[in-house]
Amino acid sequence: MDITINKIDTPKAHPDEANLGFGTIFTDHMFVMDYTEGIGWHDARITPYGPFEVSPATMVLHYGQTIFEGLKVYKKEDGSAQLFRPKDNFERLNRSAHALCIPEINVDDCMEALHTLLEMEKGWIPSAPGTTLYVRPFIIAMDPYIGLKSSPTHRFMIILSPVGAYYPEGFNPVKIWVSPEHVRAVRGGLGAAKTAANYAASLYATEIAQAEGYTQVLWLDGVERKYVEEVGSMNIFFVIDDEIVTPELNGSILAGITRDSVLKLAKHQGKKVAEKRISIDEVFKAHEEGRLQECFGSGTAAVISPVNKIKFGDREITVGDGGAGPISSGIFNDLMDIQFGRSEDPLNWIVPVK
Ligand code: COI
Repeated sequence: MDITINKIDTPKAHPDEANLGFGTIFTDHMFVMDYTEGIGWHDARITPYGPFEVSPATMVLHYGQTIFEGLKVYKKEDGSAQLFRPKDNFERLNRSAHALCIPEINVDDCMEALHTLLEMEKGWIPSAPGTTLYVRPFIIAMDPYIGLKSSPTHRFMIILSPVGAYYPEGFNPVKIWVSPEHVRAVRGGLGAAKTAANYAASLYATEIAQAEGYTQVLWLDGVERKYVEEVGSMNIFFVIDDEIVTPELNGSILAGITRDSVLKLAKHQGKKVAEKRISIDEVFKAHEEGRLQECFGSGTAAVISPVNKIKFGDREITVGDGGAGPISSGIFNDLMDIQFGRSEDPLNWIVPVK
């Protein structure tokens, strides 16, 4: 792939790594490439990070034909940097593309684009404990047309943001609220795609949860309103009878890369894991019988987020002793050690930044 490079004249000042927060600071450059029906992907370029002009009729603004990914760059103690399962993100981007009638991108081209951009932006990878460079690849429908159809033109971009913890709670446990009414996605819809609609659909119920004093919504399935699907913008796990259980992928749940990593790592360590349908009633029953040991969410941005309270109807339960349990803490530490290169990479997940 030919990538044209246009460098910024005056690089920005770097932020204070102790107060990065999440997703507000962006690096000096971004990767851009356009798609035109009949031509394919073209005009790969790296340009200064900044706003770009679109028509008010641009299709993505009206009908939400857009997909995205999230992955991170980790700085090692020796100063080098590495990525965690980046090809899995680009492969998922293509699965989302298929669901949204967006043209797929060659995964090797995506990797080349990312490596070229990172080579220029290396200086932006933070090194304070727990900080990373968050990578946000995305595709938007670009045609200026307000009739409904799939856009014949698209834009693929990669932007980079130095980040700290996603939740202000960090690794401290969060309280979650089961929505009796709202659903995030239904089977046959877009739930398995990483697309804006699913995140927009989560906002209203999240505001209700927060007004009730909870951090996140626990989503039940959209058909029977019985089976657990996800939590907030993360996948969910329970530890019941020493088994790590997560809802099976059913078409309305996102196939999280951290979810898959938790399952594979736990299995590799000899722990019992299961992907199966699990109802909220089973979770509460397991709690009543003293068998619910832990609950946690998993996602790229938050990594592992322990859950200590679950509210469903007029019942609220405290999971375990209310603190982060040993399995969540163990998996969090083991994953972070692999991601930051502090331990071996037993499952070959790491790709060094060139
Ligand atoms: C991630 O975990 O990386 C996501 O894409 C979720 C997003 C809401 C930050």
